[in-house]
Amino acid sequence: MILRYTALLATLLPVTLAAQAPVRESTGFYQFLSDDPTQKPFYSDQPGVIAKNGMVASAHPAASRVGADILKAGGNAVDAAVAVQFALAVVHPSAGNLGGGGFLVLREKDGKSYSIDFREKAPGKGHADMYLDKDGNVVPGASTLGRLASGVPGSVDGMFEAHRKYGKLPWKQLLQPAIDLARNGVVQTEREARGLNAIKKDLLDLNPGTKYFIKPDGSEWNAGDLLVQKDLAGVLKRIQKKGRDGFYNGKTARKLVKDINYKGEGIISRQDLRDYHAQWRNTITEPYKNYKIITMPPPSSGGIALVQLLRATEPFPLRQWGWHSDSAIQVMIEAERRVYADRAKFLGDPDFVKVPAETLMSQSYLQKRWSDFAWDKATDSKNISGGVLPGYESLETTHFSIVDKDGNAVAVTTTLNGGYGSRVVIKGGGFFMNNEMDDFSIKPGTPNMYGLIGNKANAIAPGKRMLSSMTPTIIEKDGKLLMVVGTPGGSTIITSVYQTILNVLEHGMTMQQAVNALKFHHQWLPDLTTFEANAFSEKTIKNLQGKGYFLEQQRNTIGRMDCILVLPDGSLEGGSDPRGDDTSVGY
Ligand code: DON
Repeated sequence: MILRYTALLATLLPVTLAAQAPVRESTGFYQFLSDDPTQKPFYSDQPGVIAKNGMVASAHPAASRVGADILKAGGNAVDAAVAVQFALAVVHPSAGNLGGGGFLVLREKDGKSYSIDFREKAPGKGHADMYLDKDGNVVPGASTLGRLASGVPGSVDGMFEAHRKYGKLPWKQLLQPAIDLARNGVVQTEREARGLNAIKKDLLDLNPGTKYFIKPDGSEWNAGDLLVQKDLAGVLKRIQKKGRDGFYNGKTARKLVKDINYKGEGIISRQDLRDYHAQWRNTITEPYKNYKIITMPPPSSGGIALVQLLRATEPFPLRQWGWHSDSAIQVMIEAERRVYADRAKFLGDPDFVKVPAETLMSQSYLQKRWSDFAWDKATDSKNISGGVLPGYESLETTHFSIVDKDGNAVAVTTTLNGGYGSRVVIKGGGFFMNNEMDDFSIKPGTPNMYGLIGNKANAIAPGKRMLSSMTPTIIEKDGKLLMVVGTPGGSTIITSVYQTILNVLEHGMTMQQAVNALKFHHQWLPDLTTFEANAFSEKTIKNLQGKGYFLEQQRNTIGRMDCILVLPDGSLEGGSDPRGDDTSVGY
């Protein structure tokens, strides 16, 4: 089937496609082929972490330690995932969360796979025009900042559901590390301190009468300061005792609804909370060469888009061309352009719209998409926008990957959307609420905070889930677990996951090298390729610009990958991103 697919594509593609650049013999190991000093392969030379039994790769060392301890105590990968999710809500409040949502992809040791969609939902009072003024114009900031920006949170129910079906250790035990961290305090990393200082004004403006996340003496946070979260510990304790009801009913729910409805600003109701249920969904499980890609279905666009990207560039000799060779970059940009155009047009919550997943991922559809490709000229993204992508510094989501001693694997990407979400902290609860409503298409053709546009398929409706780019992914080879991958990064999630996978599968990088490797991104609109410093050589930039590509060096970094690779001898390599505080802990 896979062979047939490749052969079919080879016959249909223009002959010139495969013969653009000199083809070099592959060694089977990563080799940096460029001799141009203006290009570098890696953000850092940080080595990976190798362990025999189990591995947790997450955005924060304390959370990874919590997960590894659960594995050591006999917990499985799902147990560890639950403990890590709650620990991240304490130690990494910019993205770890109780007030947000996410996706979990699980591959059991025998190869069966499942996913849980715990994405937030639009409240019952939500409607398509809720962020427009009477003239139909978007009200600036309404979907990103403050109480109206939140969807109904899904993380607690998602974890509860995962544990109900797959947990081995008692729920109580999995909550305890997060409770301890909240009560005893978390030593702030430099990055966390900087993040809290940057949102001080929003914290004070949006949360009158409270001092959440403000240093007790009012001064700036510094690395080494202790952040104690007593109210959050109380909420976690209630969740520990009552399960999902500790969040969606009773005291926490009352506090949440009271705060969100402060001065009539927000619309989440007690009923919305009671009605929220995470959803088990069939994973997208698709072949790519002799691998199997197991990834998240809609309402994430990530899984479909990832498979589209891998298949679209499958016929090209990426490995022989070399990592970030001109030809490889050009076909990857063109594939990304076409796939993000599909995303905008076709994808939305499958409970509300019919997503043509099979067609979008099919060979025949994908080859037709190359029909307007030419080597000598960039394809034109329709309605070229002169705008630039916003900087990524305030944008946060978080991903973690876990493999246990039996080979069960879990990939979770979870988020408040923007860094610290809506910046509203629930009074008496001490946790941030998401600003996920901005992931809906709040007006057809209007870009969201990631510059993504959408249409009707992703319009707001009561109880609907907003489209996501989160792409927690597991890869198997010859029926065995090979890799667990994922990252934050808004719209760049899909392209970062795609490139990291290619870095290992095609370019022979180690897990850590693939994470360290510099990244680039194109998302159809704006018609712009952004790249990390040194990712492209000056020669490449000139060559691409000569063909009409718009390029811009990214001010910040792209992605914070946390991934695990199973090595040939069965041991595990954790690859955690040096772009953040990310850390792999194994045993
Ligand atoms: O679901 C999504 O696609 C976005 N809410 C993810 C946001 C994100 O990754 C921000 N992180 N850098």
